[in-house]
Amino acid sequence: MLVVGGGVVGLGVAWRLGQQGVRVTVLERGEAGRGASWAAAGMLAPVAELGFEELDLYALSRESLRHWPAFARDLEAATGRSVDYRDDGTLVVAPDRDAAEALRRSFRFQQQHGVDVRWLSRDAALDLEPFLSPRIAAAVHAPGDHQVDNRRLVTALRAAVEDAASVTVQEHVAVRAIHPDADAPRAVLDDGSEIAARQVVLAAGAWSGGVEGLAPVEVPVRPVKGQMLSLRMDAPVAGPPFGLRHVVRSPDAYLVPKSDGRLVIGATSEEQAFDTRVTAGGLYRLLEGAWEACPGIDDLDVIETWAGLRPASRDHAPLLGPLAPGVVAATGHYRHGILLTPVTADEIAALTLARLRDADHTADVLAPFAPTRFA
Ligand code: GLY
Repeated sequence: MLVVGGGVVGLGVAWRLGQQGVRVTVLERGEAGRGASWAAAGMLAPVAELGFEELDLYALSRESLRHWPAFARDLEAATGRSVDYRDDGTLVVAPDRDAAEALRRSFRFQQQHGVDVRWLSRDAALDLEPFLSPRIAAAVHAPGDHQVDNRRLVTALRAAVEDAASVTVQEHVAVRAIHPDADAPRAVLDDGSEIAARQVVLAAGAWSGGVEGLAPVEVPVRPVKGQMLSLRMDAPVAGPPFGLRHVVRSPDAYLVPKSDGRLVIGATSEEQAFDTRVTAGGLYRLLEGAWEACPGIDDLDVIETWAGLRPASRDHAPLLGPLAPGVVAATGHYRHGILLTPVTADEIAALTLARLRDADHTADVLAPFAPTRFA
């Protein structure tokens, strides 16, 4: 089995297959896990991150949240490394009355769909999270939204596949083309050499759309840039220490406190192709949005700034399942790669394993995400 792409999705699929003794080679164009998986914030937040019209994606996200505790437990048991899975819940805040109206609309919609969300007045929100601005208008608490430390997740997955006797990861190997074939699909590398396999899984994130050889099948996946930064919460500051506990989401920024003292702030959303520059304007808007929600960040030290590339499909939903003869897609996760890793790894591993054994495998939860829907 060949997995093209060594981010959390590719490594997750390879790890699950390796647990079944399947021989897997992961081909990664850069360093495994250092693309969007590293750049992410680690929010497992379907309530805070999904829009009105994304009900299928919401169902898939709920299913992945259901897989998360076992996935984290298995990975931690296999590697002895924590992934810092936390279930503190998310606070979606409205900084002013206009934002409160918009928040009220999505709150009603979520309630109608049975989502566990609670409306909080400013005082109730401040009781729950004292580091919110006293100027906010209202907030919604989503206790079912969780988070994980995505960088620890990447490190653990990397260790898990290294320990799996049947999995090999090759880094700095770019795949130029995939030639479908029911029995022996082939990957063509940038240097022109070819690797054949029984099946190929395309998990190349933002680079998936550029892989040649699949026509007439389309893989409409493009990069959407997100600039981010992190601050140190435990740095000595004047006044009481800043110790945000919840993930906080406001219209212009989100703040994600990590157990190691980092506060991750994100993210811009820019159609800039493969550009990963960090700009003054991008950081300015993020800091302004974050400061509006939690002004206590003012005096925190900056640790790092960076930009990542979300793999976005034409309809912003992932491509999961058979793509072409011998080729399965697991890409296009857009804003939800970390959240959707367990369901993707478990279901794509089960699907490819069944195909190796000429057995049937149906996963109803993947049905709306058939990669051929763009034909
Ligand atoms: N899921 C966070 C982001 O896309 O910025």
